[in-house]
Amino acid sequence: MKKIFAANWKMFKNRQQCAETASELLALVREHDHNAAHQGHECHDAQCSCHQNVQREVIVFPQFMGLHAVAMVFGGADDFSVGAQNMYPAAEGAFTGEISPAMLHDARATWVLVGHSERRHLLGEQDDFVAKKTAFALEQGFKVMLCIGETLAEREAGQLEQVLTRQLDTALKNVPATCDEKTIAFAYEPVWAIGTGRVATLEEIKEVHALVRKLLVQRFPNFGAETPILYGGSVKPDNAGAIILLDNVDGLLVGGASLVAESFSRIIFA
Ligand code: PGA
Repeated sequence: MKKIFAANWKMFKNRQQCAETASELLALVREHDHNAAHQGHECHDAQCSCHQNVQREVIVFPQFMGLHAVAMVFGGADDFSVGAQNMYPAAEGAFTGEISPAMLHDARATWVLVGHSERRHLLGEQDDFVAKKTAFALEQGFKVMLCIGETLAEREAGQLEQVLTRQLDTALKNVPATCDEKTIAFAYEPVWAIGTGRVATLEEIKEVHALVRKLLVQRFPNFGAETPILYGGSVKPDNAGAIILLDNVDGLLVGGASLVAESFSRIIFA
């Protein structure tokens, strides 16, 4: 399965900074691919397509106003995508401050991040609302990255499995029949590890990803085994290499350490 490296830029960077970081990132990744393909020999072929068989997808989730700029930078690079950090589950209407699927298509977003813990816990989004967004985004032709994760209090109360099962079951209850491993990905992000510098141990990550895999296979017998599960929460260049090698870890969702292109590229190639 290809690995997914997703950058969540949250509420950072103006439009120009989004474009600059995206273009630095693309250049760093291409340089690395190039060197790997030519084993250190310089290649002067401007049309060189040495990255074409790379089993990897890089997704950047910038703030809304940076979407189009980032999409323009990535252009035709088929291993790079751009996604929105949120979407309102209606075609249009009187929803002050919200953004619609058509607006996101217009800005060239192809992914939507749904259920991020900051939206659940700081902005009060409930499981039912997460479910509406998931179903509507899929119906509108987006790929969805659905975030789940427990708080420290829930983990300490022994409710980990119960919380993840509830989050998954509610979020997936109305997904359209077209949903498959190519259109949905999951990110396990323990709330206590996001932006705290406290990363889950490899053992904890392995255990939870095995549980999420089991729950996905039960819910989607046809494609649950192939559906990407990303880990997120204080991923840095120095811990990414060990995390990405764990069973059932198909990618990483990175916040703080994705804001600088060089640091994110070190995570991609960790
Ligand atoms: P972090 O954020 O890497 O800064 O912990 C992860 C996320 O919020 O997706």
